[in-house]
Amino acid sequence: MSNDKPVILIPGRINPRVRERVEAEFEAVSLETADTGLLDAATRDKVHGIASMTTIDAGFIDSFPNLEIIANFGVGYDAVDARHAAGRGVMVTNTPDVLSDEVADTTVGLLLNTLREFPKAEAYLRAGRWAAEGGYPLTRLTLRGRTIGIFGLGRIGLAIARRLEAFGLPIHYHTRNRRDDVGYTWHETLAGLARAVDTLIVVVPGGAATANAVNADILDALGTDGVLISVGRGSTIDELALIGALSEGRIAAAGLDVFADEPNVPQALIDLPNACLLPHVASASVSTRNAMADLVVDNLGAWFAGRPAITPVPE
Ligand code: DGY
Repeated sequence: MSNDKPVILIPGRINPRVRERVEAEFEAVSLETADTGLLDAATRDKVHGIASMTTIDAGFIDSFPNLEIIANFGVGYDAVDARHAAGRGVMVTNTPDVLSDEVADTTVGLLLNTLREFPKAEAYLRAGRWAAEGGYPLTRLTLRGRTIGIFGLGRIGLAIARRLEAFGLPIHYHTRNRRDDVGYTWHETLAGLARAVDTLIVVVPGGAATANAVNADILDALGTDGVLISVGRGSTIDELALIGALSEGRIAAAGLDVFADEPNVPQALIDLPNACLLPHVASASVSTRNAMADLVVDNLGAWFAGRPAITPVPE
């Protein structure tokens, strides 16, 4: 281990390829949990970079006087206080692009599973009920005839839109500013989008600006055939309002890959038969997670070689 190598802190759980590469290319310091109290002052002084997929708040950042860069594992960086980091002159990077196709593919799969109930149909077969009771009941919901609304038309939102456009479905979206390059129907407000569609796909990256944005009014606007799909961040959905809308049949179904308090999922959601729930797996294939891992470490490598970070988060 050379003293010349920049010291990179890995606080808590991380993808194994990030760990392997950081250990090979830098001097690594690992923490079992993101608790800086476990490090002595001399070690904290040595840390130049952080590779992380956990919460990095202002206090955490301030524990490291010589910190230069935080490389976040994930395109969503709502767990990092990027504004505080910028104020301290600390670079923050994320992992855009390399996961867009995987997340978009998964989102289409989640939508189909939610509508056509494949997880329940498979459980029916495995329980021997096909032979005993006959075919699985016909599903009331289908993709055919749906009008798609996408909340958040960034790279992933656009990749989802392109796929569902190929299914022959009309695409609407809500973003702060209209995009002239996409040819879909823009709505200035989320409420306007929800009134125009029956299928709302939420892809926004989380954060204070969109906290609980999908509330009871938005859900009711989708109508009783309405379907909510959420693959951005759980904080965007008012989960209590969603549980109410699903249990009272004010919307038809929901497919969720993200939750407000992961890995804890409200029991009331788990108990609902019209909710299709995944444990935040939209980008979770080996190849995509490896690509994300490489981007985390390549950002660190570029920075400490004196080059610009490859994927700095937007200002
Ligand atoms: C991301 O990259 O933000 C995904 O949610 C996977 O963590």
